[in-house]
Amino acid sequence: MVKGQLDTPYVLVDLDKVEHNIASMQAVANRYGVRLRPHAKTHKTPELAHMQIAAGAIGITVAKLGEAEVMAAAGINDIMIAYPIVSEAKLARLVALARTAKLTVAVDSCEAAAALSRALAPSGATIDALVELDCGFGRVGVPRGEPLLRLARFVAGLAGLKLRGVLTFAGHAYEARGSEQLRAAAAQEGAAAAEAAAMCRAAGIAMETVSVGSTPSSRYAASCEGVTEIRPGAYLFGDLMQVDIGAHALTNCALTVLVTVVSRPAPDRAVIDAGTKLFTMDGNPTTLGTGRGWVIGHPGIALEWLTEEHGMLRLAPEEQRLRIGDRLEIVPVHCCGVISLTDEVAAVRGDRVESIWKVAARGQVR
Ligand SMILES: Cc1ncc(COP(=O)(O)O)c(C=O)c1O
Repeated sequence: MVKGQLDTPYVLVDLDKVEHNIASMQAVANRYGVRLRPHAKTHKTPELAHMQIAAGAIGITVAKLGEAEVMAAAGINDIMIAYPIVSEAKLARLVALARTAKLTVAVDSCEAAAALSRALAPSGATIDALVELDCGFGRVGVPRGEPLLRLARFVAGLAGLKLRGVLTFAGHAYEARGSEQLRAAAAQEGAAAAEAAAMCRAAGIAMETVSVGSTPSSRYAASCEGVTEIRPGAYLFGDLMQVDIGAHALTNCALTVLVTVVSRPAPDRAVIDAGTKLFTMDGNPTTLGTGRGWVIGHPGIALEWLTEEHGMLRLAPEEQRLRIGDRLEIVPVHCCGVISLTDEVAAVRGDRVESIWKVAARGQVR
């Protein structure tokens, strides 16, 4: 099958570009001797997780337990759940999952850690734990210094949990623009995590893992003294958000949406068959000046605004030959958001569709 035979809208994954992006981030990890544990929320697709692991990743990161269950069932057996596990229902599922996969769980409270320990006790199982540090993003994680040390001491003393180290997520690296600011954000992230680990070690608590890294920061954080692991996710595809930040080349964006022009209401306006229910409203229209997407091969077309199922294109004079039925390929603003809204993707090489992959962990929000 070729791309042209797919009905639209259809989410495409360019295999040449994905392979390039996987190899490039793996090369960063290898160069600095750190482990790569990509965040699978970006693809939610076991085939892509297997490609990352085949290239050298040690396992994956997920946010939700449901994502971990899907990935474990697909044969991924080293999974970090970087999200607080709270509720009896989830604890029971986690204990069951620990029988089939090697799990690491992030904890940022004594309550959640104690509940995990209690839940694991009857089975006698032990899972790995990382204490989560807030390095400045202001989401989850405990502050540096005494609060982090207190949590680490508590977790180290619990049955059922093996404290392995510390993790942090510098979401504020998304505010950076260009390599200098990214390097500074990553240095701050890496130093905060390494310092937390050093403080715990000085108190006699073993800390072998220092896990950091978003897509914007990982390439730089990997080289920070003391960092042992990076967890970028969006690097796999890239998107306009990453291009804007300066963390990904537009030409290496591997995830696109194939759409069809369904209406030509005015000479300078065309409407495509996808809106917010595929492109999402995540992020901001970018500095590229192309609105909510980059229309490949048509710099004079801007995806100006969206309703749920319609995308409105503004056409520069040289683009006004566009006709109903024409097809376009668009790089979205936020790849992870698009993936979470589609049941399947077409893996393409050039014009050829090599596979249709189910986005198996889509909808796994629990
Ligand atoms: C804990 C954690 N680690 C890693 C990542 C991956 O970062 P990015 O989306 O920039 O690739 C995320 C993203 O949300 C995250 O929440």
